[in-house]
Amino acid sequence: MDLVKVGVVGCGTVGSGVVEILLKNGDLIEKRTGKKIELSLVADRNVEKVKKLDVPENIIVDDGFKVVDSDVDVVVELIGGVTVAKEIVLKSLKNGKHVVSANKALFASYGKELFEEAKRNGVSIRFEASVGGGIPVIKALNEGLVANRIEKILGIINGTANFILTKMTENLLPFKAALQIAKDRGYAEADPSFDINGIDAAHKIAILSSIACGRWITVDDVYVKGIRDITPFDIEFANEFGYRIKLLAVAKFENGTIEVRVHPAFLPKSHILSSVDGVFNACLIEGDFVGPTLYYGMGAGKEPTASAVVADIADIASSRGSSVPAQLLYQESQIFIKNPEDF
Ligand code: HSE
Repeated sequence: MDLVKVGVVGCGTVGSGVVEILLKNGDLIEKRTGKKIELSLVADRNVEKVKKLDVPENIIVDDGFKVVDSDVDVVVELIGGVTVAKEIVLKSLKNGKHVVSANKALFASYGKELFEEAKRNGVSIRFEASVGGGIPVIKALNEGLVANRIEKILGIINGTANFILTKMTENLLPFKAALQIAKDRGYAEADPSFDINGIDAAHKIAILSSIACGRWITVDDVYVKGIRDITPFDIEFANEFGYRIKLLAVAKFENGTIEVRVHPAFLPKSHILSSVDGVFNACLIEGDFVGPTLYYGMGAGKEPTASAVVADIADIASSRGSSVPAQLLYQESQIFIKNPEDF
């Protein structure tokens, strides 16, 4: 595959970032991968919006399925949601296309089915951008830490919630005003209730813990409580006693059991995750041999997320890394998921 043809489905915030990177840094990526990555098709219902990105008119289409049925090698699914997006991904895999996606809800609900389809068709799915925006945390779990049994993941993995809590702490803003700024900056999901109710973080910790333990954990396995009820009084109270309130995503692996949860927590100000502020994300991952490792960076927004998507495309182009998360191949199905009452 010296020429790798890429089709982007969905040219919203992240999709437009992917198009910009491919148009601007295409030469650089070609030198690094030794492959020419060609932006072959871009699909969006709003064709006029895509034209404004300097995309040649002859590669713009108004229907994602035209990309799926074309001769592209890689389909980049960036429409979000779990209905049409799932059809796009499944059909792409069946058509023998590799898939790159940032869709956490999709993998946290249907990961097993999608990966089995990919395996049947000898193609790969990459989803680095689904967790932690621009931080290569999935790559870390799947490759760098592959020699370890993962013992604990502690993450701040929703940029919007962290941004809101930071604004409430530093600028003494009420919850709604802080949420509005997050929306204006493009961090929040189309439906921000996913961010503030903890569902988005639950999708992400489901994905991380699945990779970590080799068994598919779905969002329904995660105990979830969001930040909607946090008041400026709670934040002030925490502050006086030396704590910060953070929305934490936690996965603990112990004696064949997993406990997976998302909820606001008091973190001592001295804790390394306490200083992760604004839209930044961080993940503290502990392995049995490596000990604690830390991953930090922009967890949301157009450019960081698009950066992770393009990294996945480059990996496919250069056949780097494992095409299916290594741990998911063995499916350690005896692992028992704890009920919240047993935490
Ligand atoms: N709404 C998400 C967040 C976007 O705030 O973290 C990145 O997944």
